[in-house]
Amino acid sequence: MKAELERLVEAARDVREQSYSPYSHFAVGAALLGASGRIYVGTNVENASFGLSICAERAAVCQAVAAGERDLRAVAIYAGTAAPTPPCGACRQVLLEFGPDMTVVLAARDGSWEEHRLRDLLPRPFAGLDLDPEEK
Ligand code: THU
Repeated sequence: MKAELERLVEAARDVREQSYSPYSHFAVGAALLGASGRIYVGTNVENASFGLSICAERAAVCQAVAAGERDLRAVAIYAGTAAPTPPCGACRQVLLEFGPDMTVVLAARDGSWEEHRLRDLLPRPFAGLDLDPEEK
């Protein structure tokens, strides 16, 4: 897994170069590892109508799903910062849909990283089962 996570961090670093972030100047790269072993990348894409901006993590999820990959095992996030950048709440929720057990790797500029479980980053989440009237 260590080598796979290293590859993932590298992919997040690379895709960050493509970030479209002229408003915040905060460039983020994300890379997802699917159960197939394939990697899917995304970067943040901002808009003059700020609220329409999409985060790197959610952009990567869209790539994975479009390729038919719905079982996601790990995500790496890199923002070129001294301290690792955690995913925003919206991205935690969207990631959970396709990989509640996924590993979240938060990489810092110096090459160090933190590893978390997505479940720990989003306790007591709203999920598909909560839509089942029999569960309520
Ligand atoms: N951003 C991400 O891409 N991922 C995150 O998890 C945090 C925030 C982006 C959104 C926006 O383009 C910029 O970073 C500043 O918030």
